[in-house]
Amino acid sequence: MAKLWAGRFKKEVNEKVNDFNSSISFDARMIHHDILGSIAHATMLGEQGIIDKKEAEMIVEGLNGILSDVENDNLAIDPTAEDIHMFVEAELTKRLGDTGKRLHTARSRNDQVALDIRLYLKDETDTLIQLTQNLIQVLCNVASEHTETVMSGYTHLQRAQPITFAHHLMAYAQMLLRDMDRLQDAKKRMDVMPLGSGALASTTYPLNRMRVAELLGFANVTKNSLDGVSDRDFCIELCSAISILMMHLSRFCEEIILWCSWEFKFIELDDAYATGSSIMPQKKNPDIAELVRGKTGRVIGDLVTLLTMMKGLPLAYNKDMQEDKEAIFDAVDTAKLCISTFIPMIETMTVLKDNMRNAAAKGFINATDCADYLVKKGLPFRDAYKATGQLVALCIDKSLVLETLPLQEYQTVCELFDNDIYEAIRLDTCVNGRNVIGGPAKEMVEQQILEVKNKLK
Ligand code: ARG
Repeated sequence: MAKLWAGRFKKEVNEKVNDFNSSISFDARMIHHDILGSIAHATMLGEQGIIDKKEAEMIVEGLNGILSDVENDNLAIDPTAEDIHMFVEAELTKRLGDTGKRLHTARSRNDQVALDIRLYLKDETDTLIQLTQNLIQVLCNVASEHTETVMSGYTHLQRAQPITFAHHLMAYAQMLLRDMDRLQDAKKRMDVMPLGSGALASTTYPLNRMRVAELLGFANVTKNSLDGVSDRDFCIELCSAISILMMHLSRFCEEIILWCSWEFKFIELDDAYATGSSIMPQKKNPDIAELVRGKTGRVIGDLVTLLTMMKGLPLAYNKDMQEDKEAIFDAVDTAKLCISTFIPMIETMTVLKDNMRNAAAKGFINATDCADYLVKKGLPFRDAYKATGQLVALCIDKSLVLETLPLQEYQTVCELFDNDIYEAIRLDTCVNGRNVIGGPAKEMVEQQILEVKNKLK
């Protein structure tokens, strides 16, 4: 495709350089937003009398025509165009002749691309927020069914204290709520309209920047033309919010992978959300969870790409910044794909309650409660801790657990023990006794679920 900037040059650009320079293979996806931006720009140019009102109307009509042709597959995007901005402008000029050439008045591709990415990412951020919200909703639904499903909580991946499966799931709901918040926050700073920054030093035309912002639904305009064209913080912030979100999913996936193992067997994935082995007939693998965990590395890589790309750039626009798109688009695409595959996997998994409870019964996870029992009978906590430690050692010696250790044995270690110890160390008692705000007791988790659901509204 002929270059719109050809005037200064005596030679055609080298073919390899042309390919090297081109971004159309990855910025073509912004065509919708590019055209919307141009429609707003042309409308404002007409309103301000910078171009003739009639011509502005023809440009808007022409742009709408290109948009519907692209959407109806009647116009193919030319892969030899330098970028999507050049493609749209050239196509407009093909259709309108000289009038089309007026569109780029008082605009540079530098502020144009800064606008397009913002418009595009604002929509994508909304999609990510919605997907995250759907996932939280699903977690609340599954959690509601498991407020009495006792399992062990872990520290160091060692059985620690009794909780419920609902409580465990809701921990992820809390992380995801923060992720939603971070996405919303990133969107706030994305929500400023850069057109009017020009190439770097704004323009001499009497633009109405606020009008363009209003037409495109932006909350405000950028306040410094150099910053307006060279800021990619919003890509980095979004990528960082996505990286944290993916890190959360990755931790969740790690647990799902463990829970699916025969060693745990806390859950069973639906056949539709697991895969087999080509050689081992018995295998059912949690590939989705593994892939989400794997893809998290890739998203973190995108964040590093963006930060590294920006860290040495002088003001204002530099071509390095064209590299922003593949990184941030990859992060967004990957997160959308991961969340939307993860949701039905969670919705369809079977929770093996008995296995959770059996595992919880074997790990002395009520030892803290046993010590607390003595504290309630007047013993200082350190002494109670020591006595319980001796009891655990005794149990291990005799292949017993605290629930099956006879009362006489208890009393050899401390005479404060009575028959009510057995009730005090029942796992359900232990869980439901933890009824402070944020605790695993049924009533508290129910309250937590309610609060999370209310926040989603
Ligand atoms: N394709 C370019 C990008 O993605 C558009 C801006 C180009 N501006 C320029 N002066 N070469 O960043």
